[in-house]
Amino acid sequence: MPDSVEGLTTQSLSLPEELILMLLNEETGYFYQVHGWELNCAVVGSVLAELSLLSRIDTDLDSLILVDRTETGNPTLDPVLEEIANEPEQRNAQYWIERFAIQAESIIDLTLDRLVDLKILSHHDGDFWTLAPTNWFTDLHGNDRQDTAGQFIKTRISECIFTDTIPDPRDIIVVCLVNTCDVFRFIFELDDEAERRIELICKMDLIGRSIADAVEHTIASPMLRHSALTKPIQRVSLRDLLFNPHLRNGNIPAVFADLAKKYGPVFEVRVPFGRPMIFLAGPETNRWVHRHGRMHLNAGNYFADFEKIYGAHGVMPSLDGADHFRLRKAMGPAYSRGRLAGQLDHVYDYVRKYMADWKVGETYQATRLCRRMVNAQLSPLFISVDSQDIIDDLMAFKERALITHIIKALPKFMLNTPGMKRRAKTVDTLLERVQSVHTPAQRVGCPRNLTDDWLSLHASDPQLVPEANLRFALSAALVASVYLGDALSFAVYAMASQPEHYEKIRAEADALFENGDPDGEDFTPSAIEFTHRFLTECLRMYPIVPMSMRDVMNTFVVEGYEIPVGSRVYIAQTASHYMEDVFPDPFSFDVDRYLPARSEHRDPGYAPYGLGTHTCLGNRWMDLQLAVNLLMIAHHFTLEVSPASYADSLSFSPLPSMKPSKKLKFRIAEQKRGLPV
Ligand code: HEM
Repeated sequence: MPDSVEGLTTQSLSLPEELILMLLNEETGYFYQVHGWELNCAVVGSVLAELSLLSRIDTDLDSLILVDRTETGNPTLDPVLEEIANEPEQRNAQYWIERFAIQAESIIDLTLDRLVDLKILSHHDGDFWTLAPTNWFTDLHGNDRQDTAGQFIKTRISECIFTDTIPDPRDIIVVCLVNTCDVFRFIFELDDEAERRIELICKMDLIGRSIADAVEHTIASPMLRHSALTKPIQRVSLRDLLFNPHLRNGNIPAVFADLAKKYGPVFEVRVPFGRPMIFLAGPETNRWVHRHGRMHLNAGNYFADFEKIYGAHGVMPSLDGADHFRLRKAMGPAYSRGRLAGQLDHVYDYVRKYMADWKVGETYQATRLCRRMVNAQLSPLFISVDSQDIIDDLMAFKERALITHIIKALPKFMLNTPGMKRRAKTVDTLLERVQSVHTPAQRVGCPRNLTDDWLSLHASDPQLVPEANLRFALSAALVASVYLGDALSFAVYAMASQPEHYEKIRAEADALFENGDPDGEDFTPSAIEFTHRFLTECLRMYPIVPMSMRDVMNTFVVEGYEIPVGSRVYIAQTASHYMEDVFPDPFSFDVDRYLPARSEHRDPGYAPYGLGTHTCLGNRWMDLQLAVNLLMIAHHFTLEVSPASYADSLSFSPLPSMKPSKKLKFRIAEQKRGLPV
């Protein structure tokens, strides 16, 4: 592969690459939604077609013949060529398309990786893709072009379907492939004549016809496809679930890791009177969700009940597709590490003010201490008001709402108890406070906060962010205090129960703070090398969000299991945190897993921030804030776990998100340094 891509023409791209570029909708950063089976057939078809253009295979109506088994050097083509070469019987193109279709996802992954390496595609957080505008190729007449690669290919194909020129063999195949995926109508405005010409072009090529046949045949007989290609999903016995040793201490990821070991990466749990729950657990299903989930899963359904409580519809966690992409792009800066790094002087003030109330010898309940510590920072940073007096109520209301309306572990009326009704009113109190300080005149000269971003997006695009959604967006901002606060509780627990780690974190903290307060740029990877590995291990062993829910909008096959449209899936993305083959000796706290030689977190098995399009938007903000808080605690105080017996027997409270059990407390054993009053 060339280092420099200057002067490359699209002829240097393989057919799978051209197909993927055709399928990318440049406006949305998404691929056009193509039914999984059609897409798989088309992708495999593109591989066979490329092998045929490279004279490795030949096809006629009845058979596909091996011509030359020499490798092509292209990792997407060679495994397919090898399998064809090793097949004793002669088969036809349709047979090979069906046979390889279930492996098509790895071909897609490799193709995307190569397009990123070639700097044609850029990959963004949340698994969005954009095309880089460049003049890296020349057109067929030798002129430099300033389009993206996708536009260039689309122009070529439009010439082929809207004019009477005789198409190039390569273009014929691209037309067949895109037609199989049924997305021409999204790319071009087609009249009858163009449609007739597409049909005609598709008949010009044998590989293209075999693809269409394979798809038609499969659509006509879904039963056949089911039994021929997929494994049955096993149902977990309630006994295995209820008597799992990790259920007793609330370690949900470890429970799912055990179930996956016995039942495979896809299994079903049925509770009496409940809807069947299909679980995906393990690094391979994680990889699949991350890469392909967007085409098959939607977040809107499961969240609908919950957002209704706030009078909202279409908030960020429940959006899918192009609107979701737009919203994330617009709000990205508000949740970025850079936004926090620019305000660290305020963070230090809030933290010190909060810690100034800690008394040596006193004992504090862990989660309450840490949630309030984080909220003392997030509330002024995000919404510019103090909310310490109402945060307990806000959190209790949101947690009950999640349990009743998403997890459905309690009946809905439990959100309407008198206590909960009173707490619900704190959402209004919060919004009144926020509104009262966000008039344009009052914000002059203030650093931009999250509320400013939500309000200005609402003003400029009231369809994307309607007024009805602000209630949710602004109060949810504070609920980040729950996640971050609970992550801090776990981290302080891990630090206080392992004195040798405490010392190393303190050493990094002392070095950072010894000559005055550090700024954002001082938190370099080497300055907090140990603390960073330590926190990475905390999020592995104590993930706050152990799983995510989605609904299946397009049937898909993952790891050989078919998940039908309409199913509700539970993506247990952190089950792999407790799988021996991903993290050896998973129950031991081992910060060396993340040393360069081991790098165990590089695997898709490490997923504390979720997967795919809804990956935590605040993850970099959160990395920095968590590190700053832990370092400041270590710099000023020595904390102990109380009761001491908890130091090696932590139990979790897993609903609605993971946190240490209420019984965990921290005792302030020693104050190392004074705090400014
Ligand atoms: C330890 C702390 C945190 C953890 C473990 C965490 C984890 C997650 C996870 C797993 C999701 C995806 C949920 C899903 O797929 O359904 C998510 C979404 C999100 N998180 Fe976090 N989060 C944390 C803290 C934060 C913080 C501090 C912020 C704000 C600065 C934040 C902002 C968001 C946003 C905006 C989304 C929605 C993204 C979307 O739907 O596209 N998170 N988080």
